[in-house]
Amino acid sequence: MTTLIRGQVLAFHADPFAVPAPDAARHDAAGAVAVAHGRIAGHGPIDAMRARFPQAVEIDHGDALILPGFVDAHAHYPQTAMIASWGKRLIDWLNDYTFPEEARFADPGYAATIAARYLDLLLANGTTSVASFCTIHPGSVDAFFEAAASRDMAVWAGKTCMDRNAPDNLRDDAQSAHDDSAQLLARWHGQGRAEYVITPRFSPTSTPEQLEALGALWAANPSCLMQTHLSEQTDEVAWVKTLFPEARDYLDTYESHGLLGERGLYGHAIHLEPREIDRLGEVGAAVVHCPTSNSFIGSGLFDMGLAARMRVGLATDTGGGSSFSMLRTMAAAYEIGQLRGLALHPAQLLWLATEGSARALHAADRIGTLSEGSAADLVVLDLGATPAIAQRSARAADIWEAVFPTIMMGDDRAVAQVYVAGRAVRPE
Ligand code: GUN
Ligand code: ZN
Repeated sequence: MTTLIRGQVLAFHADPFAVPAPDAARHDAAGAVAVAHGRIAGHGPIDAMRARFPQAVEIDHGDALILPGFVDAHAHYPQTAMIASWGKRLIDWLNDYTFPEEARFADPGYAATIAARYLDLLLANGTTSVASFCTIHPGSVDAFFEAAASRDMAVWAGKTCMDRNAPDNLRDDAQSAHDDSAQLLARWHGQGRAEYVITPRFSPTSTPEQLEALGALWAANPSCLMQTHLSEQTDEVAWVKTLFPEARDYLDTYESHGLLGERGLYGHAIHLEPREIDRLGEVGAAVVHCPTSNSFIGSGLFDMGLAARMRVGLATDTGGGSSFSMLRTMAAAYEIGQLRGLALHPAQLLWLATEGSARALHAADRIGTLSEGSAADLVVLDLGATPAIAQRSARAADIWEAVFPTIMMGDDRAVAQVYVAGRAVRPE
């Protein structure tokens, strides 16, 4: 059975960082996305879609805007309950707020509760896929993948590995990090829509031996992604220099242990040396911009000019980030762009939150786009969800002006519906 999901449709056919941004997408004011068997069967003007799928059932979202579901390329689901913790910068924030909360995930029941809460918050905000860190506890990984499977969501996640500079109850060792990760990988990677991600937290919390062991695990499992953090705060970069005196730079602490590659995801990447930028670009790695986190923890201003040199994903970094919403995250990316003298176009913001992040995850063939054959993971945005937004979008001259107030001022009230693999998350 085919369903035509009707509304305004915005579909990208090019990278808006590579072509003039407004030319990268096609807009159908009276459009539809055709969905069959959980996948996208086509999209276009409603008349053309009716001619193509004459038997289709229709669901009408009026003037709401249909987009691919948002893809959050870096988050920490275990930090859900301590989001918005006041007053610290990165290292103190980790020690005082994050690690005590992550220690609670030794209890699989707590992990299951938070995993369910987190994924429901994502769906309420129109996010249908995420790459999340878990905690050092294997049970935190099982809880997350189980919660995602019960919602049919495509997710990426892995056991966070730490064998130094963390409390006793949050440390593994090089061997157990390798072996636990290998077991979880075997259990989850490619199971349904789950993908395992090898996850050293960041160089300060791993010994060279642990980085080496995880590099070997990645080499043995090259279809996995690897996620970590890179050059988020200047204090952290200075600390890495003292911990790895022989390293050329922060990226080299990963590179010299087999943890730099095309399927690597490097969160933050703010304070980079020229060599690091060159190497990330050469190997085809992805950096992930986490704008609400970067202002909340006081980290710095990401350079979106990197998008011309390498893959760039967009992410909440919950709970260093101060929001679960990719709308709020796009707004923060816009604001940080402005502080660096670069006004990101709404096309660039929307692309980063969908196909850009999907490309960072090497998954743009199945999520983050409206291409035929992709999963029917969709968000439907009400472009006038609050009086403030509605009075502004009513004046819009084109779709970009119509959607920008929702990007800047929207929240979960703008999310009219979400589809996961073709299934509506809320009752119609
Ligand atoms: N660097 C290492 N761990 C973390 C984390 O949990 N959050 C953020 N924002 N940065 C980190
Ligand atoms: Zn992070």
